[in-house]
Amino acid sequence: MHAITIPQPGGPEALIWAEVPDPALGEGEVLVDVVASAVNRADLLQRQGYYDPPPGASPYPGLECSGRIAAVGPGVSGWAVGDEVCALLAGGGYAEKVAVPAGQLLPVPQGMDLVTAAALPEVTATVWSNVFMIAHLRPGETLLVHGGASGIGTMAVQLAKAVGARVAVTAGGPEKLARCAELGADILIDYREQDFVAEIRKATDGAGADVILDIVGAKYLDRNVKALAVNGRLAVIGLQGGVKGELNLAALLGKRGAITATSLRGRPPGEKAAIVAAVREHVWPLIEAGRVRAVVDRTVRLREAGEGHRVLEAGVHVGKVLLVAE
Ligand SMILES: NC(=O)c1ccc[n+]([C@@H]2O[C@H](COP(=O)([O-])OP(=O)(O)OC[C@H]3O[C@@H](n4cnc5c(N)ncnc54)[C@H](OP(=O)(O)O)[C@@H]3O)[C@@H](O)[C@H]2O)c1
Repeated sequence: MHAITIPQPGGPEALIWAEVPDPALGEGEVLVDVVASAVNRADLLQRQGYYDPPPGASPYPGLECSGRIAAVGPGVSGWAVGDEVCALLAGGGYAEKVAVPAGQLLPVPQGMDLVTAAALPEVTATVWSNVFMIAHLRPGETLLVHGGASGIGTMAVQLAKAVGARVAVTAGGPEKLARCAELGADILIDYREQDFVAEIRKATDGAGADVILDIVGAKYLDRNVKALAVNGRLAVIGLQGGVKGELNLAALLGKRGAITATSLRGRPPGEKAAIVAAVREHVWPLIEAGRVRAVVDRTVRLREAGEGHRVLEAGVHVGKVLLVAE
């Protein structure tokens, strides 16, 4: 098969389409003929040499894909050759074939085409596990989503609205905020012009956000705690603003607040399977009912994956950038 390889870490040009051995199919796995994958921020770090795949994972980038099952390994039930699926991966989505633990497969939602389905696994699993399984966002509560126009953000806004929460977003500029509003965001904060702590307080009669989904990390730690409501939960999933911050524990204690931080990629297959099962139970019906949709900015050819990386690095996209195999 062919895959995107990274012979030397570097810029987008470091991604090289090359012939490589087919993946071996293990116990409990299926082999998927990849039709599409998608670019995630983590792929940019892997390309630069800052984010090695977890032990045992494919060396090629790609945390999700859609495609057709080409072979079913020993110990797998419920899936058959030819099934159209999408999958959460620990790596290897930027390839013509990938071996996937069966617990990380999802059917293509009814009414959705196979290519678009590649936009779903990573954002649905990340948002559902953090905002709902860990932070327990409830109807009527306020969720603040940093980076509302990101792949993650566009899914977080829609899912929170679908369960009856109020949603605030930060984004850089009026155009991205307008797209967030189209997806249902109620409170729009341009982080380049406005102080999100002041804005979230103003919009909540001084109470703050019940849950914050954070992709910035250290740079926002202090202000995120300030923006939390009493009994608030801060879920850190990204570290775009650094890894080491100073935490005022008295401020957190005064709010009876909680901070969690998770990375989906490094979780063991059993935990991923539990998240994927919850996504199938709770998120798939919302997608099939047309209440939540995949937000796709554009598609580029898988063999030209560097082009997709340039788009993410430029930050001009809203939602997901898909990579389509021929
Ligand atoms: N922990 C996990 O399991 C997990 C899983 C998936 C993704 N993630 C993380 O989630 C984040 C989003 O991922 P993605 O793939 O959806 O990336 P993406 O589409 O490239 O989004 C990155 C976003 O960051 C926003 N941003 C940058 N600085 C910001 C700031 N100071 N305030 C608010 N927004 C800011 C950008 O918005 P503007 O252009 O408006 O600045 C952009 O929309 C990444 O940090 C990624 O690593 C974590």
